[in-house]
Amino acid sequence: MLGRLPRVTNENVLVGFDTADDAGVYKLTPECALVQTVDFFTPIVDDPYTFGAIAAANSLSDVYAMGGRPISALSIVAYPVNGDLDTLEEILRGGAEKIREAGCVILGGHSINDDEIKFGYAVTGLVHPDRILTNAGARAGDALVFTKRIGTGVISTALKRGIASEEDVRASTESMLELNRSACEAMLSVDAHGCTDITGFGLVGHALEMARASKVKVEIDAAAVRFLPGALEYARRGAIPGGLKNNREFAGCNTEIREGMPEEIVNLLYDPQTSGGLLIALNEADAPRLIEGLPGAYRLGRVLPPALKSVVVV
Ligand code: CO
Ligand code: CO
Ligand code: CO
Repeated sequence: MLGRLPRVTNENVLVGFDTADDAGVYKLTPECALVQTVDFFTPIVDDPYTFGAIAAANSLSDVYAMGGRPISALSIVAYPVNGDLDTLEEILRGGAEKIREAGCVILGGHSINDDEIKFGYAVTGLVHPDRILTNAGARAGDALVFTKRIGTGVISTALKRGIASEEDVRASTESMLELNRSACEAMLSVDAHGCTDITGFGLVGHALEMARASKVKVEIDAAAVRFLPGALEYARRGAIPGGLKNNREFAGCNTEIREGMPEEIVNLLYDPQTSGGLLIALNEADAPRLIEGLPGAYRLGRVLPPALKSVVVV
């Protein structure tokens, strides 16, 4: 919808909303730019402390995805006026401790009365204007490296349906709690060209945005994609989030998927992720060094010259 608004024309806007990037970037001086982002959502796990911490990790992620360093945050709280205050305190404490882990400070926030709980943060970060990693920087010939496993949406849906095992939920929760800070630091130490974090639009949806913004084609090797334990099984058993279907509908017509790909894998490629990893397009020669230095990182594809379909899954 933002695309219908008049375009921002200000020489200090280094990244605006027209490329559907992770965060906006505003240049303050030739050496320093602000990275700004906001995100909040309804509870996705039962434990309030963990929900708060995941919401914080998720909000911080968009700053890391731009190559930035988060410095301050404002909380956004929607909570029932007669709701349990101990639960709210736990949500806020989980969030605050994750924000602190990132070396970031909470400056304040805003709360409203709402029957449906929602929580998240607006986060501000800093980046050198010459070191911004946008989703428009991928180049044909680049390798694509990803830093987390896929499946948090399917596993959350399986949890709601009562079919997820405790261990599988724990692995998914741990993944969502993990900050993208070390992934960002590792990315900044190699010749990276572009980056985005994988969140609500799923792997293919965000790869498509990267392909469009960068005017390239993105190739994903389905056999290389790593899934969280249980994700394939729950997808097979029909634990499909509503957002997944929307993603598939939205990105499907610009995506070419190899004939005969198992349905549960196709579904997971569109699975909306919460606090997902960084998808990094980088100089092919640097990919082994990035993967070696960052536990959990792996190569899942490559960047090709532009073509009719922006994403191809082989
Ligand atoms: Co993002
Ligand atoms: Co976001
Ligand atoms: Co970025």
